[in-house]
Amino acid sequence: MTYENPNLILPTTFDKSETITCKSPSNIAIVKYWGKFGRQLPRNPSISLTLENAFTKTELTYFPKEKADKSISLNFRFEGKENEAFRSKMVNFLESITDIFPFLYQLHFEINSMNSFPHSSGIASSASSMSALAMCLCELENRLFGTLSDKNKRVQKASFVARLGSGSACRSLYPVAGMWGELATEKTASNLYAIPFADRLHDVFHSFHDDILIVSKGEKAVSSRAGHALMEGNIYAQNRYEQARNRTQDLIQAFEKGDVEHFGKIAENDALTLHALMMCSEPSYMLMRPNSLLMIEKVREFRHETKLPLYFTLDAGPNLHLLYPDEFVEPIQGFIKSDLVPLCQDEMWIADKVGQGTVII
Ligand code: PMV
Repeated sequence: MTYENPNLILPTTFDKSETITCKSPSNIAIVKYWGKFGRQLPRNPSISLTLENAFTKTELTYFPKEKADKSISLNFRFEGKENEAFRSKMVNFLESITDIFPFLYQLHFEINSMNSFPHSSGIASSASSMSALAMCLCELENRLFGTLSDKNKRVQKASFVARLGSGSACRSLYPVAGMWGELATEKTASNLYAIPFADRLHDVFHSFHDDILIVSKGEKAVSSRAGHALMEGNIYAQNRYEQARNRTQDLIQAFEKGDVEHFGKIAENDALTLHALMMCSEPSYMLMRPNSLLMIEKVREFRHETKLPLYFTLDAGPNLHLLYPDEFVEPIQGFIKSDLVPLCQDEMWIADKVGQGTVII
């Protein structure tokens, strides 16, 4: 399936103009996607929790274009200011999906995007921004052509398009949790788009917390794109992909049973596996910082002493994501504030939790 559709062409008399606004969150993978092939296809399945407070809001306004030529006409503002680097990335992305949305050549666009979190906070915005943009485009297609009136179909196509922009973005569309990537035991799972997963999660996970502790706000030394590419030469790659498939099956069972302890063990192990893969790639690199390790030790000590279910995971970066059930918010946030926040850069942290996915507002 490619979603190519040469029929999505506007009549030459088209003269409408309108703004579409979309809000879309980031997500945190529990079993990670790391390694890809083809046009952004994952080497292994992944499952993530959808976040709530770390989001991108994208306003897309379209106008009829004077002359329909083969170029993308776009003014792009990030948080109200023109940003040429972002604009040029977005033009390239829009160019790359004109087989899916041929009408992109027929319109002029003004896009304004903002993040709920500071730009230089070390929080990747590609998942939230790409899912927001993809949803705007599918909403636009439906308003212009009426071709995506079925909500499930609209969201699935948005997930497909988001994936082309940034793999992990395809999981952000869905409330609570999303699964992306084929797995023998999950017949509806696909490499092409993520599927909704909320129904498979025990109640305890529907109000889970993810507090993000900012260890370093700096740009990463090695991008995710380069990291995925290095997996192709990593001698552990095949074992990793098999492990990820097995872990995904285990994680699904933990989700269904409400087994927080098993969930936490998988989350921590998979985060450390991701970083171990970075350390043993050629060339080797490290994204954890000394305070990431210090915090990991403190979290494990706290868990041992209090028996409270507090677990960590990491993205491809130094920041710690702390996962725990809502029931324990008071003692755990008390510990975070007294013991971990002093280790954060500028004491920065974001209290987040499981959220409702992408919405048009
Ligand atoms: O979506 P990308 O290409 O930026 O890759 C991100 C991969 C991880 O965040 C490290 C893991 C994941 O599954 O989200």
